[in-house]
Amino acid sequence: MIKSILIIDFGSQYTHLIGRKIRELGLFCEIKPSKYLDSLSDLDNHQALILSGGPDSVLSKKSPSLKVDISQITLPILGICYGFQYIAHKLGGKIVKKDNREYGNTTIETSAFNILFNKTPRSQTVWMSHGDSLNKLPKNFKIIAKTKNNIIAAITNNKNIYALQFHPEVTHSENGKNILSNFLFKFCKLKKNWTDTNLNNNVKKYLDFSIEEKNPNIICAVSGGVDSTVLAFALSKHLNTKNIHFVFVNNGLLRKYDEANIQKIFKSLKLKLKVIDAQNIFVKKLKNIKDPEKKRKIIGSLFIDVFNNYLKSLKKKSFYLAQGTLYTDIIESTSYHGGKSATIKSHHNVGGLPKDINFKIIEPFKELFKDEVRKLGLYFKLNKDFISRHPFPGPGLGIRCIGNITKERLETLREIDEIFIKYLRAHNLYDLSWQAFAVLLPVRSVGVMGDARTYEETCVLRCINSIDGMTANVTNFPIETLSEVATLIINKVPKVNKVLYDVTSKPPSTIEWE
Ligand code: XMP
Repeated sequence: MIKSILIIDFGSQYTHLIGRKIRELGLFCEIKPSKYLDSLSDLDNHQALILSGGPDSVLSKKSPSLKVDISQITLPILGICYGFQYIAHKLGGKIVKKDNREYGNTTIETSAFNILFNKTPRSQTVWMSHGDSLNKLPKNFKIIAKTKNNIIAAITNNKNIYALQFHPEVTHSENGKNILSNFLFKFCKLKKNWTDTNLNNNVKKYLDFSIEEKNPNIICAVSGGVDSTVLAFALSKHLNTKNIHFVFVNNGLLRKYDEANIQKIFKSLKLKLKVIDAQNIFVKKLKNIKDPEKKRKIIGSLFIDVFNNYLKSLKKKSFYLAQGTLYTDIIESTSYHGGKSATIKSHHNVGGLPKDINFKIIEPFKELFKDEVRKLGLYFKLNKDFISRHPFPGPGLGIRCIGNITKERLETLREIDEIFIKYLRAHNLYDLSWQAFAVLLPVRSVGVMGDARTYEETCVLRCINSIDGMTANVTNFPIETLSEVATLIINKVPKVNKVLYDVTSKPPSTIEWE
């Protein structure tokens, strides 16, 4: 059994990034809520402990806490931000409230010869995000870094604990990954144990753990995207495919060739795919629904209804529903690890599930990031072009067709999307963007075509670059390229007469419009 690094999530928006960085460094880690640590024996299968940041103040009575006494833990510990303050507070240090929140880039000066800052500059930029500060050290601790404003930025007890007021997991901390690497490899002396093969082993372990029956009946919901297709393949590798029903629902919110493409792929994988045509049901239920969260919830629960009906038609008693849910879907929808991160959107495969479903959900990828699923797909030797496809959200065009969803508007959006993506591929631009798509706005403007007046809707092109969808920058396509696409669209799609380019990053925007 592989021993993992345990990350306790105190609710920071960045906790997933700690996990991600550690996996990139080649080590297996798990993120758990603070209540996971009930007793010291819960640490037996772990080789180091990391305490994340979080939105609370340790000075508040309601702030999250561990049941175990920090001073009794012998494993190496790294505290980050709230974790830093928690350690200091619990071990007798003094945390004080500051009037000004320190947020953003700060320069720190590190002390010489500390293993944590090995081969990093004495003066370096780090990312801070805190209100309270440490102003008296706990006993037997020393300072190993301070900011220019004299704020204590890093401490150690020279035994098993390091703690950082800043966030080494975010890219803005320019030496953050080296600092984490120093902690894990130089200080803890750990050996790498996480490779692409382990991704596969881990999926197998998850399946062994979650499925009790020998020949379970499984429904695998296939969306046509990379995640659920890799999942289908992983299931077929690890389980008897005779009882797995791969089901694809055409909900009318798909792109032009999604259904044809997925049928082709499953044929090449020699897996049987059941296609359910539910276009009318979805479009009818979404009629006049403009609120994004309502749309997401309706789409989510309709999916389950469609599956339920399909299950009934199979006349089998118990079922598992396998979904390609990723870690990012969960972290932005609900507080999966028990932390306090805010709900941004209800991802259809999480927030929209009704309470009375009569089957068990299995989500073998729920701890993985998008690029890890892609790696797994490549490990399974799935088609490279397919694996590098841009992500497409579960609710599909439903959250890109702003305002009223009608068959006609969906058709318009489908045409625009097809023209746009085809153009990007033809000009070798597709891979320059992490995700590129079109959005249809219910905003009409006056135009002129030929000699005639037009009064039609607006479409927005959105192209972003990202690593995991959690943050994103706008893809810098030249204005000439965008103008060319705009002309193509307006010439071919009569229902729009204006094309805009979305130039907002995430945050403050999100990638999808709804
Ligand atoms: P946002 O809009 O939250 O998108 O910045 C981040 C990434 O997630 C995709 N996305 C979804 N994927 N179900 C999914 O499977 C969903 O409900 C969903 N909503 C957004 C989005 O396309 C982007 O890649």
